[in-house]
Amino acid sequence: MSTSKFAVAGATGRLGRHVVDVLTERGHQVVPMSRTTGVDVITGEGLADALVGVDVIIDVASWHASDQEAATKFFRTATGNLHEAGLRAEVDRIVAVSIIGTDKATAGFVAAQQVHEEANLSGPLPARILRAAQFHEFVGQLLDWRQGDVARVPALPTQLVACRTVAETLVDLAADPGAALPGPGVPIPEIAGPRTEIMSEAAKLLGARRGIEVVGVDGSGMPDGDIAAVGGFLPGSHAELAGPTFREWLDTQF
Ligand SMILES: NC(=O)c1ccc[n+]([C@@H]2O[C@H](COP(=O)([O-])OP(=O)(O)OC[C@H]3O[C@@H](n4cnc5c(N)ncnc54)[C@H](OP(=O)(O)O)[C@@H]3O)[C@@H](O)[C@H]2O)c1
Repeated sequence: MSTSKFAVAGATGRLGRHVVDVLTERGHQVVPMSRTTGVDVITGEGLADALVGVDVIIDVASWHASDQEAATKFFRTATGNLHEAGLRAEVDRIVAVSIIGTDKATAGFVAAQQVHEEANLSGPLPARILRAAQFHEFVGQLLDWRQGDVARVPALPTQLVACRTVAETLVDLAADPGAALPGPGVPIPEIAGPRTEIMSEAAKLLGARRGIEVVGVDGSGMPDGDIAAVGGFLPGSHAELAGPTFREWLDTQF
């Protein structure tokens, strides 16, 4: 197997740390990029130095909150900076993660990923995208965002997937220079968990382990809750489905 040098934007995040692990286990050189490692994809600080000799950028950096406008601005600026700096550094290509259902979203953070995808696909670097389902690791974030003692979590269908599983598929895509570029007749690939879960039920399983009461609520108060309620954000027929299930994953965490 030939090895390459990968720069990972968002290397310290929920997904990014798994991407770094998978790349390292496969014998690739890795340049971790986040503000913690002195690289800021918004201001551009440290970016040129980090990209010296890099073959592929993997972009899993993210805005930290759910506000659509702020997230849109983050993805537009970060993607532009990664492409411009990558071009100057003669990087071969970029691979970015997005969210399943962004093409149907009309509001919120999921809709902000449309700009992330468009900015990537308009170059100048050749770009591949992997859309992922909501992460197993995201359920804990929903509990952390609770106000008061009880977590109110939408009872909406979702096909939760482990970050490690997403990272493996993302690295497969990034390491393949011949992977098809998305376009007419070539859908953006998707990765999701092995089965549909109800988000509030998954949160109850986690809540029971963490001693947090979880109540399932309808999703009408969240952006595009009506689309989610009818399965609009579930993976397409071309999606790759891979374990562990949420329950299996939970057993490895406690
Ligand atoms: N959460 C989900 O269920 C889900 C599902 C599908 C797809 N996704 C997508 O997956 C991607 C990663 O999500 P995640 O949950 O892993 O995010 P996360 O845990 O919030 O991590 C974000 C990463 O971005 C870095 N970062 C933030 N601002 C930066 C800046 N200005 N310059 C450089 N690095 C910066 C952070 O590090 P520093 O703070 O050190 O800079 C961190 O490493 C996002 O695009 C997200 O939309 C998420």
